[in-house]
Amino acid sequence: MFRSLFLSCALSLAAISSVSAKDSAGSNALMSYDAIQHPVMAENGMVSAQDRIAAEVGRDILARGGNAIDAAVATGFALAVTHPQAGNLGGGGFMMVHLAETGEVLALDFREMAPDGATRDMYLGSDGEVDNRLAQYSRLSAGVPGTVMGLLEALEKYGTMTRREVMGPSVRLAAKGFPLSYAMAEGLEASREQLSVDESSVDYFLGRKSGERFVQEDLAKTLRRIMKSGAKEFYEGKTAELIVAEMQEGRGVMTLQDLANYKTVTRKAVSGNYKGHTLYAMSPPSSGGVHIVQMLNILSGYNLKGDGHNSAAYLHKLIEVMRRAYADRSKYLGDPDFVDVPVAALTAQSYADTLRESISVTVASKSSEISPGAKLPYESVNTTHYSVIDKMGNAVSVTYTLNFSYGSGYSVDGAGFLLNNEMDDFSAKPGSPNGYGLIGGEANKIEPRKRPLSSMTPVIVKKEGKVVLVTGSPGGSTIITSVLQMVLNVIEWDMNMAEAVNKPRIHHQWLPDIVIAEPGISHDTLRRLEAMGHNLPKDEKGGFAQTVLGRVNSVGQSQGIVVGSADPRGPDSATAGY
Ligand code: GLY
Repeated sequence: MFRSLFLSCALSLAAISSVSAKDSAGSNALMSYDAIQHPVMAENGMVSAQDRIAAEVGRDILARGGNAIDAAVATGFALAVTHPQAGNLGGGGFMMVHLAETGEVLALDFREMAPDGATRDMYLGSDGEVDNRLAQYSRLSAGVPGTVMGLLEALEKYGTMTRREVMGPSVRLAAKGFPLSYAMAEGLEASREQLSVDESSVDYFLGRKSGERFVQEDLAKTLRRIMKSGAKEFYEGKTAELIVAEMQEGRGVMTLQDLANYKTVTRKAVSGNYKGHTLYAMSPPSSGGVHIVQMLNILSGYNLKGDGHNSAAYLHKLIEVMRRAYADRSKYLGDPDFVDVPVAALTAQSYADTLRESISVTVASKSSEISPGAKLPYESVNTTHYSVIDKMGNAVSVTYTLNFSYGSGYSVDGAGFLLNNEMDDFSAKPGSPNGYGLIGGEANKIEPRKRPLSSMTPVIVKKEGKVVLVTGSPGGSTIITSVLQMVLNVIEWDMNMAEAVNKPRIHHQWLPDIVIAEPGISHDTLRRLEAMGHNLPKDEKGGFAQTVLGRVNSVGQSQGIVVGSADPRGPDSATAGY
């Protein structure tokens, strides 16, 4: 039935040429053809995600008359089946929703919560140091999951379809299976050590070959139960019992009461303005919204166009604003239900102007001069982001996660899904770095029912009342800086959606005081940055070490056309429009 719904351009040539003409006249360039890479375009709606099957599930929901929220919920449940490294039932995340009818942008927080048995020092060993194995790879590293309640609450409040309609495809994918991609088979094998700690994870995920049908019977049963009885089933029914039984297998403290206590929160989005656009992003307990607005505020005082895209002069300014934002992150950010986060002060233009005065445009600052330092390795890419838009102009930006790829490595026996290790996003010992090398302070200390600080940054950008960009990224601490560069590529650099997604990026997070640069940023440029005083890690041959950053699966609209681009950094990523 949907054979005619194809992934790439579903537009008439007449429409395309009229768009190009408008672009060359200098209006929104999201669809410009004067470029090396080209976005997917369609007339009615679109999903951009890290997995093709899940993107198509969402696209099919749109084609059946669902709105962007229906499609986002369907895609979220499908990713829990087809992208188990980050798609999840056992994790949590954030959803930004733009409602076309009112123009409102809502920020839905379905981040995990610490169980009641959690204590500030729960991950400290007898030597007083953080036991990383316990904090990251144990049943104790799991927070109370929020995904099921978050997705189903969004459906109930803003969707138009039934649970059966939006969850049916994921039940079928789990029960009947789907062909395992080469990348996913490799990813599972690469995580053998992490998954081998738990018998059910071994059963559910290991020993798979690319091309084989990946059937997940227990997950299908769990999805069916949730589809039939709603979120209550997950938090108070058989699934809750299975989660608690899993905890009792060793070291877990989550109880039935913790699951029954779980709540989502609809928060006020953090917003800011940049060059005629209004950006709406996730508020605390995400640090993303605050710091992206803070960084854009600082950058708004420069003539970036005069520097040239990805020139040393431009990248230097990005690094300096990143350094300052992440220094503030370590001190001020935490769960707003527990600590006062000075959102207004951090996002004030006057504060950004003061920070800008501390930046030399030719010489690198030293992070140690801003605050004491530490040095830790990076974790692999994790988390997943997808973006949805419909023909009415409703838009949804979702980033959700198990924290690391495959979370804690422990699966809920009998329920078929992995448990997160989100508790590691708290500062297990204020002042000590977590798995991403991020330093946290008192504001992010562990407390029962608190949500750990996050970097997830789902974003919706509007211009003249219309959504032009829906974006976000996985990548732990590198999420905020990846999303910043995506937003700048569209607003500041007028790139089309595909170019904006593709362009190489950089990352700096204050501590460790090093610049991470992607392949594609020239070594001449990196040498200039080094000459300005920036620290750039070297590979074993003495060249610059370069690392891939983020996957900014994005959609938008311009002049009545929807446009999108999945990030090619994700081997299975896809944009599905109709
Ligand atoms: N678990 C990664 C984040 O929330 O930032």
